[in-house]
Amino acid sequence: MAKPKRRYVCANCGSVTTRWQGQCADCGEWNTLAEEAPETVFSAKHSLSGGGRQIAFESLATPTVPLVRQTTGLSEFDRALGGGIVPGSAILMGGEPGIGKSTLLLQAAASIARTGADVVYVSGEEATGQVRMRAVRLGLADAALRLAAATSVRDILTTLHNGPPPTLLVVDSIQTMHSDAIEGAPGTVSQVRASAFELIRYAKENGVALVLVGHVTKDGTIAGPRVLEHMVDVVMSFEGERSHQYRILRSLKNRFGAVDEIGVFSMEGQGLAEVVNPSMLFLSGREDPVPGSSVFPALEGTRPVLVEIQALIVRLQSGATPRRAVVGWDSGRLAMLLAVLEARCGLSFSSAEVYLNVAGGYRLSDPAADLAVAAALVSALADRPLPTQAVWFGEVSLAGEVRPVAHSSLRLREAAKLGFDRGHGPEDAARNGDSLAFSPVSSLAKLVDRIVGTA
Ligand code: TYD
Ligand code: MG
Repeated sequence: MAKPKRRYVCANCGSVTTRWQGQCADCGEWNTLAEEAPETVFSAKHSLSGGGRQIAFESLATPTVPLVRQTTGLSEFDRALGGGIVPGSAILMGGEPGIGKSTLLLQAAASIARTGADVVYVSGEEATGQVRMRAVRLGLADAALRLAAATSVRDILTTLHNGPPPTLLVVDSIQTMHSDAIEGAPGTVSQVRASAFELIRYAKENGVALVLVGHVTKDGTIAGPRVLEHMVDVVMSFEGERSHQYRILRSLKNRFGAVDEIGVFSMEGQGLAEVVNPSMLFLSGREDPVPGSSVFPALEGTRPVLVEIQALIVRLQSGATPRRAVVGWDSGRLAMLLAVLEARCGLSFSSAEVYLNVAGGYRLSDPAADLAVAAALVSALADRPLPTQAVWFGEVSLAGEVRPVAHSSLRLREAAKLGFDRGHGPEDAARNGDSLAFSPVSSLAKLVDRIVGTA
C-alpha cells in the first residue's frame, strides 16, 4: 500500500492541496486550509472489477411519476425554488449568521405541517424552548411539526428509521451536526461532508425532502456550504444586510428549475413578510437631485427591480493610496470601469477615493449595471446631479462601447410604470422603448458628454 499523503482542505470551497498555504489557491480566501485525515490510497493492483452487485439499466423513456411540488406557503420561497419543494430533493440554504434562515425555514416548515404533512425540524443550534418561543412570536405555535434539538446524525437517523419517513426534514445547521463514522469536530470540512452525506442518503432512499441550513462565514472558522454544493439538488442563498429590512432569496443551483429567479422578503417584527412587488424597494427617498446617484433598472430572472446606485468621490490632497470601497457590486468590475473611464474618456480618478454603494443592501449581479455605475461615477466626479426621472443600463466593454443587454423593453416598461420619463441605454434598445423617451448611448465618451454637457 502506498504511503498516505497529507491533505489540506479549504473550509470555504472544499478544494484539496497537498501543501499548506496561507491563502487558498482556488477561492482566494485566507487561513481556510486545514489538515484532514489522509485518504487511504490503494495500489493499482487493487482492482474494483468483480465482486460487486449487478446494476440495472433503464431506457430514457422509462415512465416516471410526474413532479408534484410541495408549496412552502410562501410564494416568494416557491418562486425562488422554481415552484415549490420537490419530494426527495436535497436543498442547501446558505447565508450569513443572523440573516433569517431559521426564521424562514420555521415559517415554511410550519406552513407545510399545517397542510397535514409530517414535518421534522431538527435544530442543532437552539434548544427546543428557543425555537418554540420564536414560533409563538411568529404566530405558528399551533402547527403540528415534530421539533427536536439534536446534533448526532446517528441519533437523528435512528429515530427517523423507527417510523414512517416525514415529508420534510429540516436540519439547522449542517455545521452543528456530528457523524461518529469519522473523526473530527463538528464544523470541519470532513464532518460537514460526512453528516450531509448520511442525511442526503436517508432523504433519497425514503423520498424525504431535506433542507440543510449552512452558515457562510467570511473567516473560514467553519466549513462553508460550498463544500456541499455538488452533493445537493438545490443551492439557495439568503442575502441582505442585517441592518436593512430586505432579504433576497436566490437559487444558485437548481436541478428542477431556473436559477435566476429571486424571492424578496422583508424582516418584520413577526418574521419574514413576502414582498410581492419589489420593483420600488431599492430606491431611497429620491426627491432633490444629488450628484453621484443613478437609477438602474435591474432584472432578476423575469422580474424587474429598480435600484439606486450611489457614488462618492473624495479628492485626496496627500499622496496616500486612494481607497476604493464597494457595497453591493463587484469590486473587480468597478476597477475595470474606472480604468475604462480613465483610458477612453480622459477622466482621472487616480488621486481620488471612490465609494460605491447599492441602496437598500441589495447585491447586483446583472451585467447591465455598468452604464448606471458609470453614470453615477461621472456625475459624482463632475459634481453634476443626474435627472431624478432617468434610468441607465447597458454593459460596457474594455473599448468603452456600450453593449446591448437582455430584456431592454422589460426594463424600460417597468421604469415607465414607476413614473420615470427617460431611459439611457444601448443603441439597439431604442426600438423597444416606446413607452418612455429613450436616449441611446453608444460609448462611455458619449455618456460623459451627456452628463458633463460639453457636447
Ligand atoms: P435567524 O432566523 O435566527 O437567523 P439565522 O438562522 O440565519 O442565523 O434570524 C435572526 C434575526 O432575525 C434576529 O437578529 C432577529 C430577527 N428577527 C426579526 O426581526 N423578527 C422576527 O420575527 C424574528 C423571528 C427574527
Ligand atoms: Mg439560525
